Amino acid sequence: MAENRLLDVVDVHQSYGEERVLEGISFEMDRQDVKVLVGPSGSGKSTMLRCINRLTDIDEGEIALDGESIYDMNQNDLRRQVGMVFQDFNLFAHLTALENVTLGLKRVRDMSEPDAVEKAARQLESVGLREQANSYPAELSGGQKQRVGIARALAMDPKLMLFDEPTSALDPELIGEVLEVMRDLAEEGMTMLVVTHEMGFARQAATDVLFLEDGELVEQGPPDQLFEAPEQDRTRDFLGRLTSLHGDQ
Ligand SMILES: Nc1ncnc2c1ncn2[C@@H]1O[C@H](COP(=O)(O)OP(=O)(O)OP(=O)(O)O)[C@@H](O)[C@H]1O
Ligand SMILES: [Mg+2]
Repeated sequence: MAENRLLDVVDVHQSYGEERVLEGISFEMDRQDVKVLVGPSGSGKSTMLRCINRLTDIDEGEIALDGESIYDMNQNDLRRQVGMVFQDFNLFAHLTALENVTLGLKRVRDMSEPDAVEKAARQLESVGLREQANSYPAELSGGQKQRVGIARALAMDPKLMLFDEPTSALDPELIGEVLEVMRDLAEEGMTMLVVTHEMGFARQAATDVLFLEDGELVEQGPPDQLFEAPEQDRTRDFLGRLTSLHGDQ
C-alpha cells in the first residue's frame, strides 16, 4: 500500500432494515486530500461519514485507516484519529467553550486538567475564539459554536477530519467565518472529507469532488473536471443546480 494513503473505502454496502443506503462505495484518500462529498438528500452522505468513524457499522466491504481495518481498531483510538464536525454543533450546553474542548482531552486522551486546558486554549485561539473561551454555547453565535466544534475535534490531533454539512445550520453571514477556518485547515495539510453544498469551497479547497446518488458513487474527480466536464449527465444536472444555489461563498 502506498505510504501516502490514509483512508481506503472498499465496496461498502450498508442498509437500514430493507432500505439499501450505500451500494458498493469505493474511494481512497491520501494524506492532505480534501474531498467534498455531494449528493441529493437521502443519497447516503451522512451514512458514509458515520461508517468511517463507526457511528454506524457496515454490512459488507472494508474501511481501513492507515492500512488498518477500522474494525480491528479500538473504538476510542478510532474516534481520536477521526474527528467529526456536525451540522448542529453537538456542544454541551452546560459547559463553556473551553470545557467542551477539554472534555475529550481528559476522557479520551487521558490528559491532566492543566495540560488539557492549555491545549484547549491554544486550539480555540487557532479558530479565532480566544476571547470566547469562557462563554457558554448560548452566548455564542452559530458560527462561533461551529468553530468550537471544530476546535474540539482538532484538539485530539486527528489524522482525518469529517465534516457533515458544517455550515448548513448557519445564517448566511456566518458561513464565511467557518469556511475560512476550514480553508486554513486544508492549507495546513489536514486530510478532510467534507459533506457540503458550498461549491465555492469545493472549487477552492477540494482536491476531488465525489457525487453520490441513491447510495452509489456516480462520479469523482478534481473540481474543475466535475464542474466543467463531467462524464455523467446526472453529475452535470446535479452540480449545475447546486452551483446556481450555493456557488458564491
Ligand atoms: N438511523 C437510521 N435509521 C433508518 N434509516 C436511516 C437512518 N439514518 C439514515 N437513514 C436513511 O438512510 C438514507 C440515507 O440517509 P443519509 O442521512 O445518509 O442521507 P444524506 O445524503 O446525508 O441526506 P441529507 O442531505 O438529507 O443529510 C435515507 O433514506 C434515510 O432515511
Ligand atoms: Mg446528511
